[in-house]
Amino acid sequence: MARTVTITDNKTGKQLECPVSEGTYGPPVINTKSLYKELGMFTFDPGYATTASCRSAITYLDGEKGILLHRGYPIEQLAQNSTFLEVVYLLIHGELPTRQQMDEWDHSIKMHMMTHEHISRFYSAYRYDAHPMSIMAGVSSAIASYYHDRTDIKDPANRLITARRVVAKMPNVASKCYRYASGLPFVYPDNSRSYVENFMYMTFSWPTEDYEPSAVAVRALDLLFILHADHEQNASTSTVRLAGSSEANPFACVAAGITTLWGKSHGGANEAVIRMLEEIGTPANVRKYVDRAKDRKDSFRLMGFGHRVYKKYDPRAKIIREACHALLAEMNLNQPLFEIAMELERIALEDEYFIKRKLYPNVDFYSGLIYQALRIPASMFTVMFALARSAGWIAQWMELMEDKDFRIGRPRQLYIGEQSRDYVPMGER
Ligand code: SDX
Repeated sequence: MARTVTITDNKTGKQLECPVSEGTYGPPVINTKSLYKELGMFTFDPGYATTASCRSAITYLDGEKGILLHRGYPIEQLAQNSTFLEVVYLLIHGELPTRQQMDEWDHSIKMHMMTHEHISRFYSAYRYDAHPMSIMAGVSSAIASYYHDRTDIKDPANRLITARRVVAKMPNVASKCYRYASGLPFVYPDNSRSYVENFMYMTFSWPTEDYEPSAVAVRALDLLFILHADHEQNASTSTVRLAGSSEANPFACVAAGITTLWGKSHGGANEAVIRMLEEIGTPANVRKYVDRAKDRKDSFRLMGFGHRVYKKYDPRAKIIREACHALLAEMNLNQPLFEIAMELERIALEDEYFIKRKLYPNVDFYSGLIYQALRIPASMFTVMFALARSAGWIAQWMELMEDKDFRIGRPRQLYIGEQSRDYVPMGER
């Protein structure tokens, strides 16, 4: 028998049987499509904490168990065995590539890494100290204008070319954000290099000497990109989907995702964590800041802590913490902020306030420490997040465009404003 949930309006006695759909994993969903038609009501769920906006086969999170799967593969196994570009293939195509498929994928991405020469002119319109996330969002939207006439979002083959373009051009766009802020000349991609190596080459190489990033640094960055690639229907991905639902240009949808990710409650938290650790200054000061985070009268929150879905340790944070420890040891780097972060984690996780609210370190808590060890400035941390997440955004956009229930997203509201009233001429107010 088909599973249903019955909603009863105790004011009118009217009832509605809503069908329930079950997925592979995770809570079943109540289909409330006929709620307004049958009961004249909307659902109300500020922040969409219990609202499923779509069907998706790309990523699964279990917040209670701290599980993250991409196309069924555990993040721990992908982090251990895969590369970012292979994970991007998996997100977009649904299966891990064969050797031949991976070689073709790698080549196709390299063939799209260049941007139109005029794109470089957009950077100089920004203030010398503009936040790179502002630049990245603006330039990504500008790229939309270079492909608008050749983008057919209804054609699957064209959607795949668009996806390749987004994945290929984001490292180029991101590296130029750093170069512009540093007063350095832009560097063209070098197709003899791997994806992550190419990004580092475009970002950190000097025109006056050869540049070879350390294998340790390339691997650490590749790992961080894997861990940031996709994460179900988070705020920025939901923004990309909503923009995509109006059939907007996909590069413009990615620009909307970048803008949303910038907020410090979301991707901007990685930069905010480093600023917070620097403000704390020493492990001895940690307790004072933990107490501030608990004080409702104080707007201070522990950046990098808490998550809407994870009510256990974010599996990505666990991997990053271990990678951070190994990297600092391997590079023989003394990172005092790492000691402060570890002390902050220790104290918070023993504190009733955090235990009761199930607040644990999230993906942003340790990632900045690795970026710093790779000599990436804090202002660029969220750009790194956006570079990696643009792969998840475009994979989710492709899935949206293929959805049999595709339609423009248009939430409703609970109106609490004034009742209807007549205009009052200025002289009578
Ligand atoms: C990302 O959605 C995703 O998947 C996002 C992401 C991804 O990969 O896309 O995982 C990436 O955005 C990670 C989150 C990065 N943001 C931060 O680290 C910023 C700090 N964290 C918080 O702002 C907060 O935890 C959120 C925004 C992450 C989650 O907010 P929720 O789910 O709306 O939780 P809430 O604000 O309702 O908090 C519940 C309680 C409140 O206390 P009470 O009202 O019950 O007394 O927990 C408290 C909050 O005050 N709380 C915190 C806290 N986070 C929540 N108290 C102190 N410090 C914190 N960090």
